[in-house]
Amino acid sequence: MVPSILLLASLVTLVVANPLNRRAMQLHESRTAIPAGFAKSGTPAPDTVVKFRMALAQTDPDGLTDALYDVSTPSSANYGNHLTKEEVEKFVAPKPETVTAVNEWLSEHGITAQPLSPTGDWIQFTATVSQVNQMLDAEFSTFTHSVTGDQTVRTLAYSIPTDLKDHVLLVHPTISFPSVFARRPVFSSPIKVNNPAVNLTSDAVPASCASVITPACVQALYGIPTTAATQSSNTLGVSGFIDQFANSADLRTFLTALRPDISPSTTFTLQTLDGGSNPQGRSQAGIEADLDVQYTIGIATGVPTFFISVGDNFRDGDLEGFLDIINFLNGETNPPHVLTTSYGADETDLSAALSIQLCNAYQQLGARGVSILFASGDGGVSGGQSQSCRNFIPAFPSGCPFLTSVGATTGVPETSASFSSGGFSNVFARPSFQSSAVSSYLTTLGSTNAGRFNTSGRGFPDVSAMGDNVEIVWQQQAGLVGGTSCSSPIFASVVALLNDRLVAAGKPVLGFLNPFLYSTGASALNDITTGSNPGCNTNGFPAVAGWDPVTGLGTPNFPKLLTAVGL
Ligand SMILES: *[C@@H]1O[C@H](CO)[C@@H](O)[C@H](O)[C@H]1NC(C)=O
Ligand SMILES: *[C@@H]1O[C@H](CO)[C@@H](O)[C@H](O)[C@H]1NC(C)=O
Repeated sequence: MVPSILLLASLVTLVVANPLNRRAMQLHESRTAIPAGFAKSGTPAPDTVVKFRMALAQTDPDGLTDALYDVSTPSSANYGNHLTKEEVEKFVAPKPETVTAVNEWLSEHGITAQPLSPTGDWIQFTATVSQVNQMLDAEFSTFTHSVTGDQTVRTLAYSIPTDLKDHVLLVHPTISFPSVFARRPVFSSPIKVNNPAVNLTSDAVPASCASVITPACVQALYGIPTTAATQSSNTLGVSGFIDQFANSADLRTFLTALRPDISPSTTFTLQTLDGGSNPQGRSQAGIEADLDVQYTIGIATGVPTFFISVGDNFRDGDLEGFLDIINFLNGETNPPHVLTTSYGADETDLSAALSIQLCNAYQQLGARGVSILFASGDGGVSGGQSQSCRNFIPAFPSGCPFLTSVGATTGVPETSASFSSGGFSNVFARPSFQSSAVSSYLTTLGSTNAGRFNTSGRGFPDVSAMGDNVEIVWQQQAGLVGGTSCSSPIFASVVALLNDRLVAAGKPVLGFLNPFLYSTGASALNDITTGSNPGCNTNGFPAVAGWDPVTGLGTPNFPKLLTAVGL
C-alpha cells in the first residue's frame, strides 16, 4: 500500500508544480506517411482558428454491442425489441468523471467545449493552431492536394495527457485526411428514354433490360411490388453530401417517363444540417443526388422519403459530414427506418480510432431499429475508386460490421460488376454473424491473392444489387450511370418495402440487417456466382456460390424475403 500512496502523492505534486502543458503526455495517434495526393505545403499562422471534435470514452460500448445483437438476431428471444433513444444513451453517455477530467484539461488551455452528440460522447470546440500545438504536443501543418488544390491543416501525430488516456478516444481533425467522395456515378448522355413494356402476366424480365436498367427492370428482376406502401410511419432516408443537390424537376421527369403508374409529383422531404441546402437550379442538380432520390422514390413506391442534405458549415474534410449526419440522426426521436449512403472513402485515409467511433455511432442507430446501407465502392479490390496498389485497399465505412455494405451486379442474368468494391477490413475483425460464410469463402479461395488482404478482417460487401447501365434523368436529360451508388438505394428500397409490410402486420421493422441476412435471409437472395472485381494488377476476388467479397450473399428476391421475414 505504501508505494501506491507515495505514487499518488507524487502525482499531485507534479500537477501542482508544473505550469500549463506540463502534464505527462503520451503519443495518442500518428501516421507514418502523408496520404497519396497530399504534400506538406507550409505552416499555418499560429492564430489560425480550427474547429475540432473530440470523442470521449462511452460508459458501456460493449454493452450496446450485446444489446444490438440481441435485438437483431432472428433466433434471439428479443429479436425486434429495438432500444429507445434513452436506452441507447445510457450505454454511450460518457461517465461524469470523464467529462470533468476532459473539461479541466481544456480549460487549462483556455478552451470551452460544447456537446456535439446528444449525450456528449462527442464534443466540439474551436482553438487556434498555437493552442492545439501546445495542448496536443502536435505540429499542425498545411497540406495541399496535388489534384484538387485543396488545402487542409493536419498533424501527423498528437499526444494527450497520460492521465486522460482512458477518457479521450480521439481528436479530429488531426491525422485523418479529407477524402470522402461520392461513389461517382459517371453519366453518359443523352439516351432516348427507354421504359420497357412490362407484361404483367409474365415474370420475364423485359429484353431491353439487358442494355438499359429502369425501375421496371429492377421490379421485374427482384419481384418488387409496384403497388404503393401503406404505412406513413415507415420512412427512408437518403444521405446527401458535398453539394450534391437532389433536383425535383429531374425527379418529376424521371417519374413521368419511368413510373407512369404513380403520381409525377411524388417527391422527397428535405432535411438539412450543418447549413445544408438543396437549391433547385437546373445546373445545380447532382448526378449522385438525382440517382439516389430517383432509385429510392422510384422503387420504394409510396414510402415517405427524406433527402438529408449535409452542408459545409463545419467542414474541413468531408468526414465531418459523416459524423454529423449520424449524430444528428442519433438525436432524432424518429430517425428514418432505413438510411442509404452512396459516399465513402478508403479505410487507409482515416485513423483507426475515427473509423471505430464512426462505426460505434452507426451501431447506436442500428440498436434503435434503423437499417444502415452503404455503397461498397467502385474500385474493385483497389478501394473506393480505381487506383494503383499492391495490397488491396478496403473501402470505408464498409468494413464497419454494424452497417450493410452493398456491392454491384451487371447484366441480365446478373453477374458481378467488375468495379464492385469488396474485400476485408484491416481495422474491424470478422464479426460472428459472417464467420461461417467467410471461412467457407476463404477455403474455396485457397492461396489466391494471399498476402494482399487480411484474412481475419470483416468481409464486405454483405449483399448486392443492380449497378450498371442504370437510367436516370439529370439536368432534364436521360442518361445511363453505373456504380455501387445505384445498388445501395435499390437495396434500401427493398428493405423499406419489407418494413412497410411488417409495420402493416403489427411487427417491428428489420433494423440492423446483417445477422438476419447471414442466417434466415441468405436463401432469400439471388446468389451471384460469376465474375470478379479486379484491381491492384490482379483479377481481384472471384464470385462463387455462397458469400463472396464481390456481391456478398447476393441480390434481393422480394417474394422470398417476405417469407424470410415471416410474412
Ligand atoms: C405475357 O406473358 C404471358 C405469359 O408468358 C404470355 O402468354 C402473353 O402472350 C404475354 N403477353 C404479351 C402481350 O406479350
Ligand atoms: C488485420 O485485421 C485485424 C482485425 O481483424 C487487425 O487487428 C490487424 O491489425 C490487421 N492486420 C493488418 C496488417 O492490418
